[in-house]
Amino acid sequence: MSEILLTIDGKEVRAREGMTILDAAREAGISIPTLCHHEKLESYGACRVCTVEAELNGRLSYVAACVRPVENNFVIRTMSEKVHKIRRVLLEELLAHAPDSEDLARLAQEYGADKNRFEKEASFCVLCGLCVRYCAEVKKKDAIGFVDRGARRAINFIPELAAKECWNCKECFPLCPTSALQAAYVLTEALASFDRG
Ligand code: SF4
Ligand code: FES
Repeated sequence: MSEILLTIDGKEVRAREGMTILDAAREAGISIPTLCHHEKLESYGACRVCTVEAELNGRLSYVAACVRPVENNFVIRTMSEKVHKIRRVLLEELLAHAPDSEDLARLAQEYGADKNRFEKEASFCVLCGLCVRYCAEVKKKDAIGFVDRGARRAINFIPELAAKECWNCKECFPLCPTSALQAAYVLTEALASFDRG
């Protein structure tokens, strides 16, 4: 695997081909905030909270550090003014869905995000997919998935599978960045519908 040389926040970093910017930064002791990323799961790139500025041959782009692989001569800035602003607006949008999330509140404070900037559409789910992907990739059960599209997109437990698998597992609950209660509520509904069915 060939070595990739790049700069992150002014620090020269040696990474390996195929690594993401996030992994290279973490190995170099540089922290980048994440929401939908989990080291046991495939990168997903849903929340964009990990956005960084990437400069290559004088061209700037803003990329999700958890999915974008490193490249030779990349100049990465994890905390430029524009990066800060992008994260702030993203957090404000996410807070409209999950205003009581402690994870979001912590990041909001760091980035000066106003939780009342956007009209509330509280669904308590920010569609990070952590619960869905954990069930599929780690537990290999697919007991939970997404349904619908656009504004109606939501998580949903498959009642027959949930009745068999979920009550004694619940490993996805603590992964949820908004509140484990959301998954618990949807699971309870799925189990109730299974009992009725
Ligand atoms: S319920 Fe929580 S973990 Fe699952 S997709 Fe929504 S925000 Fe993510
Ligand atoms: S943590 Fe990178 S897109 Fe969510």
